[in-house]
Amino acid sequence: MRDCYAEVAGWMAKLGMAVRIDAAGNLRGTYPAEKPDAPILLIGSHLDTVPVAGAYDGVLGVILGLTIAEALDGRKLPFAIEIVGFSEEEGVRFGCPFIGSRALVGRLDHDLLSRQDVAGISIAQAIEDFGLSLSDLPQARLDDKVFSYLEFHIEQGPVLESLSLPLAAVTAIAGQTRMEFTFHGQSNHAGTTPMNLRHDALAGAAEWIANVERAAQQIVGLVATVGKIDARPGATNVIAGEVRVSLDVRHGLDEVRKTAVKDLILLAQEIARKRGLGLTSTENLDQAAVSMNPALVAEIERAISHAGAPPHRMISGAGHDAMIIAEKIPSAMIFLRTPGGVSHHPSESVALEDVEKAIECGMHLLNQLASATAFQEHPHFDRMLQERNSRA
Ligand code: HGY
Ligand code: MN
Ligand code: MN
Repeated sequence: MRDCYAEVAGWMAKLGMAVRIDAAGNLRGTYPAEKPDAPILLIGSHLDTVPVAGAYDGVLGVILGLTIAEALDGRKLPFAIEIVGFSEEEGVRFGCPFIGSRALVGRLDHDLLSRQDVAGISIAQAIEDFGLSLSDLPQARLDDKVFSYLEFHIEQGPVLESLSLPLAAVTAIAGQTRMEFTFHGQSNHAGTTPMNLRHDALAGAAEWIANVERAAQQIVGLVATVGKIDARPGATNVIAGEVRVSLDVRHGLDEVRKTAVKDLILLAQEIARKRGLGLTSTENLDQAAVSMNPALVAEIERAISHAGAPPHRMISGAGHDAMIIAEKIPSAMIFLRTPGGVSHHPSESVALEDVEKAIECGMHLLNQLASATAFQEHPHFDRMLQERNSRA
């Protein structure tokens, strides 16, 4: 993280940006406006990623923000541009995602800060260990001059490639539930314990995992994933006494997702009861689906057209920091095509010409926002666009 920040902060400084690392570890650089105290446009994404990842998820959005600022070639706009690289979006280390962006909207509360990683280090401790101070968290909050947030991000799925489209405007981000289940059985000798006398936690978890997949296949638009399993004691000749599994459930409609989660919990309880196993579960995230700002989505579609690409709207199955920032300010996302539809994997990629289109789209977006001078009176983007549309 330090090396990544040193590299990106160097690029920010070269662009004349004021650079800082806030108390949640977010890297932030501000490109000044033509006048002081001007409104601020926030552009960013996350700098962390998942294990054995690709090279574009998150970081591309930060670099595109810097590239668009660089393309201004010193030109100043009626608003400043703050580029943010969020410190922890994936939720890999502490089990809960969006830690960096929550600090900007004031949601990094005591309960979250006490969440621990597998080594028992809390988020609060990790912040202090990085050389930051929890008492500075209030300074991480969004400046109230920020009028909108834009996030460029790879789609991470097959849709744009199947439509042969380079870019899309994201209209909403699916909600997601993240949980951990522990099946408690009885460790025993693999060679001497008859099959009918076992309380095999791994066999119980396996039966449930197969049912998770089957249940999700029955519900249109629902995805459910068990991505992590930890069987203890984890020896070939020992029946597993305790098995921890993760669960990730997503859907565009919150009530569909919540019902599916409830049913999967009941299923786990039923399997555990039938097999004489104990069952405990914890919920690490219940993140509602979030709509992007309609006015910004319309501006993005216009900018995609100006960049010479057919505009397209779509929902994001992946979670993004934009769903957290959207709680406070109008937010929207621009997706870039993901060749092969593969992400969270080393083969994740982007097409150079799509990145060029994204930069062009970003430049058009800046000019469109800059020409909407009304926002200089109105801090809130929607009102600005309504004013402009009613005048048009
Ligand atoms: O898991 C996700 O939705 C994203 O990659 N953070
Ligand atoms: Mn990701
Ligand atoms: Mn991402």
